[in-house]
Amino acid sequence: MLVRGKPHRTIWLKADGPGCVQIIDQRALPHELVIEDLHSVDDVFLAIRDMHVRGAPLIGAAAAWGVYLSIVGQADKFDLETLIEDGEYLKTARPTAVNLAWAVDRVIGRLKTAESGHLALAKLEAELICDEDEEICRRIGESGLSLISDIAQGKNGPVNILTHCNAGWLATVDWGTATSPIYHAQQQGIPLHVWVDETRPRNQGASLTAWELCEQGVDHSVIVDNAGGHLMQQGEVDLVIVGTDRTARNGDVANKIGTYLKALAAFDNKIPFYVALPSPTIDWSIDHGKQIPIEQRLGDEVSFIQGYLNNEQVNVRLTPEKSPAANPAFDVTPARLVTGLITERGVCEASEEGLLGLFPERGKHD
Ligand code: MRU
Repeated sequence: MLVRGKPHRTIWLKADGPGCVQIIDQRALPHELVIEDLHSVDDVFLAIRDMHVRGAPLIGAAAAWGVYLSIVGQADKFDLETLIEDGEYLKTARPTAVNLAWAVDRVIGRLKTAESGHLALAKLEAELICDEDEEICRRIGESGLSLISDIAQGKNGPVNILTHCNAGWLATVDWGTATSPIYHAQQQGIPLHVWVDETRPRNQGASLTAWELCEQGVDHSVIVDNAGGHLMQQGEVDLVIVGTDRTARNGDVANKIGTYLKALAAFDNKIPFYVALPSPTIDWSIDHGKQIPIEQRLGDEVSFIQGYLNNEQVNVRLTPEKSPAANPAFDVTPARLVTGLITERGVCEASEEGLLGLFPERGKHD
């Protein structure tokens, strides 16, 4: 999508540096556009753990490039055991987004049976994962477009869509998941307005989604997380679309903390609540959402807030020094509160039957 009017992706191999993967360092947004060089497995591990890159699909793409960089680091001698160790290490960077383990296993699986050319194969597979992610997200936009255009046909004025966290192109390779139907609707000239939840504690909505929508020219307003229920009661929200970090077979959805409360409010107000779901984010090995590991992050993300002052990023304390803070980073929205799942193969009910209707090849447990 666009940055200063030019199309960008979130991750790529440096044109003249085959040992260097480049990312947009999202910690600096929306105030600065910083491109960071990653040269090693450790660099990728830290970029994922410390959220220079984040969002389930982009975490997967970064991990795939991490496996590639592991082989770059092996110089001329390919060693499968070291690669597997590096892969297991990468998988521990963050626990909730299933795309991380999926991508590591996919690239290593591709290499296990090869007798030579491992570096070239790893590069190819990482590039394929990125290209596929872009295409999946583009198709999610096509799948979700009619949800927006149907509402637009029945009303005067813009369609008001509420979203939580950043499930935009910055969370993927391109297009985004929850934002893809929005960008497709914008391209069709459908009048839109997006309510952007700030998404405490790290404010991915206020800093990342708002930045994307500015760059893309989509009308929006940033709101505090507590405003969503009120706006729904006032008839100011037509549709909620969020992303997901892991979805269980039965359609239970893990996403950024606070998503569940939005789903409850949407349910109470009879507002459609959709989850944009790329298929690599489905964990076919688990039956329900209670099996999804929930990341617990440092309390400092709650006790301090980050801002920009005199061209510098500053951290300001919010809470009494003696108050401990708890910081669960994700929650699980039960399938019964989800109106539907928007996938690259179409929209389905949030249930095992619904998912298997679109992905029949997953009929049996992995
Ligand atoms: O902690 P984050 O910023 O990685 O969490 C991101 C989210 O919860 C997104 O909504 C989710 O990954 C879907 S992204 C397409």
